[in-house]
Amino acid sequence: MSRAKDFARLPGFRDFPPEEMALRSHIFRAWRRVSRRYGFLEYDAPPLEPLDLYVEKSGEEIVGQLYNFTDKGDREVSLRPEMTPSLARVLGERSRAMPKPIRWFSIPQLFRYERQQRGRLREHFQWNVDLLGSDAVEADAEILAVALDGLRELGLGQDEIRARVSDRRLLAALLASLGVPDGSLLATYAVVDKIEREPEERIRELLTEQVGLEPAAVEGIIQLFQAPDLDEVSRRFSEDEEVARHLDQMREFLQVMEELGLGEYVDFDLTIVRGLAYYTGIVFEVFDRAGEFRAICGGGRYDRLLELVGGESLPAVGFGMGDVVLTDLLQERGLAPDYRREVDHFIVVIGEDQSPLARRVARALRGKGRSVVYGIRGQSVRKQFSAAANEGAREVIILGPDEVKREQAVLRDMETGEETEVPLQALLEGDPKEG
Ligand code: HAM
Repeated sequence: MSRAKDFARLPGFRDFPPEEMALRSHIFRAWRRVSRRYGFLEYDAPPLEPLDLYVEKSGEEIVGQLYNFTDKGDREVSLRPEMTPSLARVLGERSRAMPKPIRWFSIPQLFRYERQQRGRLREHFQWNVDLLGSDAVEADAEILAVALDGLRELGLGQDEIRARVSDRRLLAALLASLGVPDGSLLATYAVVDKIEREPEERIRELLTEQVGLEPAAVEGIIQLFQAPDLDEVSRRFSEDEEVARHLDQMREFLQVMEELGLGEYVDFDLTIVRGLAYYTGIVFEVFDRAGEFRAICGGGRYDRLLELVGGESLPAVGFGMGDVVLTDLLQERGLAPDYRREVDHFIVVIGEDQSPLARRVARALRGKGRSVVYGIRGQSVRKQFSAAANEGAREVIILGPDEVKREQAVLRDMETGEETEVPLQALLEGDPKEG
């Protein structure tokens, strides 16, 4: 076996050579701009956490995917698979003294030992935006608005993306009304999560055999999801006060999204339940409208998590948006920016005697904030010019022995090809007249 094979990248992990790094930075910059536009502050936490932070709180699906091990001090630890439990811990230690609501965001790299599939890797970066200390519907809407604006900022408009929104309280009330006992709610959510992907017969079978529901409840659920339109649900459950209350809340949420100018992006969709255990209210996922990709973003309200990790009881709502599906989508829609190398100046050195002078000029220009690269010893003049083109230099500064003797240098504008002479002194003061 060759050595190169031994050192291969692990499956599900990515390298980021400059072309790919440029796209990643482009995405991060957009995320940061939009976070600030909505008044969110950036935070971070350790990539390695105590294993206990995830067990129970995140739910079975994520726990089965943990990168966990025992460290040299016999601690059970895990790489972070998501940010929300860390956020809850950080705030648990300090939120009592903080003015509310708290608006925080972060862009952590996360690790999940996933089955490999398109759009899902074993590491990803995830934009997390969370608003804590308010249980108002406006807070939920504000959070979804940040997510949608983050995508709009990258060029994905109404034709490209849509958010599908539901509410676990509403679903719980509907299921209760259909005769699903409290103890079977979580198991029923897990089946509802599959409704879109599995045939009706399979859903019926799962609800009956796995969850253990009565035939009437099973049929009620099947029917409910055949026409899960807001008005239809409202008509069918008009007697149930609990359902009515949560439907009103959903209408209010949709109204606020409308006022924020994003109503067209949002669809009510009861099949969205989300895999994580801690959600307690509104839940949403954002998808490409064509339905080609997996979810770009998921989030919702989690009013009990902070208390669970030992903090004050603080209502909270937030989302995570991954960079993997988003990168694929931007590339496929031609929305990834052109990757271009760009330096302000390339200094071509003719004859090694000019090298010290090249370094002095480079230092002066860099001191003024310009980017400068110069020909490294041993490169022919021709090679230096092609290097200048490769670097995307705007201007080449030519230090030739004759000109230098006259205290001059030649500047070539790389776009027009025009050449002019400037006094060396100006360059040494970091002030190329043509620059
Ligand atoms: P999540 O749905 O597990 O939620 O992940 C959110 C997003 O992260 C997904 O929609 C997807 O874009 C991306 N993602 C997740 N797993 C992977 C993976 N293996 N590879 C690539 N991308 C992935 C959460 O993690 C919640 N903690 C979000 C949240 C924040 N809820 C409230 N605040």
